[in-house]
Amino acid sequence: MSENISIPSGLPKSEVYTALLPQLHALVEGENDTIANLANIVAALKEAFGFFWIGFYFVKQDKDQEVLVLGPFQGPVACTRIGFGKGVCGAAWKEAKTFVVPDVDQFPGHIACSSLSRSEIVVPVFVNQKVAGVLDIDSTELSTFDQDDALALEEVAKLISKIL
Ligand code: SME
Repeated sequence: MSENISIPSGLPKSEVYTALLPQLHALVEGENDTIANLANIVAALKEAFGFFWIGFYFVKQDKDQEVLVLGPFQGPVACTRIGFGKGVCGAAWKEAKTFVVPDVDQFPGHIACSSLSRSEIVVPVFVNQKVAGVLDIDSTELSTFDQDDALALEEVAKLISKIL
């Protein structure tokens, strides 16, 4: 695995993603421990973009139902369990699609793990065509995320689906 992330400063967001993606692949290459790889991927995204909160929730069995459970993340402590269809994460799980939320206060049922969070993107991670988890990123600014983030983070989600 590579041991550091190198992103030239001052690049536009899309070029940061372009520079980062092969480095994420290199970061997990040769390491088969899932938690170690997921932890490094969120750390690399945090390092590259300085996101307020970034992390994973994974679909797990909880008694007679499935629920999203918090995985590796960077940022303030967060809610540990999210139900199907609940909040932005649960909606991305239910609808099996990426949600770009420019203003979390306008999203019905948004779960405020931190009152500082103003906008959010949630990208599902698929395994065998089913949502196995979500990558969730929060920003303290409104309208931080757009289609460029969605497309690039969907590529990151494809990498994650291979290492689960
Ligand atoms: N805001 C999310 C909950 C997770 S936290 O942002 C870390 C949601 O509405 O699903």
